Amino acid sequence: MKTIRLDTVDSTNTYAKQNAVNFSAHEITCITAEAQTAGRGRFGRHWVSPKGTNLYATFVFRLPLETMHLKSLGQVMAASMAKLLISEKLHPQIKWPNDVLLGGKKLAGVLCETEFHRDFVQVFLGVGLNVNMDRGELETIDQPATSLKNETGRVWDKAALLQKLQAQFASDLEQFKHAGFEPFHNLFENLLAHKGQVVRCFDGKKTWEGICHSLTSDGQLNLYLADKTMHTVIAGEVKGDGK
Ligand code: BTN
Repeated sequence: MKTIRLDTVDSTNTYAKQNAVNFSAHEITCITAEAQTAGRGRFGRHWVSPKGTNLYATFVFRLPLETMHLKSLGQVMAASMAKLLISEKLHPQIKWPNDVLLGGKKLAGVLCETEFHRDFVQVFLGVGLNVNMDRGELETIDQPATSLKNETGRVWDKAALLQKLQAQFASDLEQFKHAGFEPFHNLFENLLAHKGQVVRCFDGKKTWEGICHSLTSDGQLNLYLADKTMHTVIAGEVKGDGK
């Protein structure tokens, strides 16, 4: 894996998209920055990206057009992040599809963007992890958020975390290329936030309300509706407890 380290950038995902033609077609290129001036979240949201305190990274790589379960790639990154946190003796949860929570609050988010070319898919898989952000800064975020420092009371080494995430993701991506989401299904379902609880999920058109039940083998969410039918949500965002 090649790492490109930037100081300040608008967004590592935007930079990656603008420069993708210069990156290797055969290995992962990882773009990281100390600060982002226009960090992007899902659904056009802003990602708070102050200098020096957090991890902002975008993994750039190509996949064959026929790759299985492409829609669940963001979830693979969330699984990689969760495995890293578990190896650090923490107890993360994953809020479907790919928010990583600690103590019920958002610790990391994933933004997966793709471009379809004639014979490959170019992937820009961005991940933001709140590492050493203090409580005051966390309160500026428009949803309940936390950082590793806030949860554990100590300062974390960003470079060491990035190195571990890179190794974990590189190995997870190889598995994904061969077997799709299946190898991540169990871990993901075990870590699923709000499992067994009533949640609401907006799929871009309609808000579905039901019990957060399980995942399909390719990572979609099964909601058990009040009319006793199961509804599978392909894209969207889960909201529980009014958050
Ligand atoms: C979300 O939860 O809404 C996704 C947040 C993704 C943030 C990361 S930080 C690195 C990369 N660059 C961006 O502009 N966004 C992603």
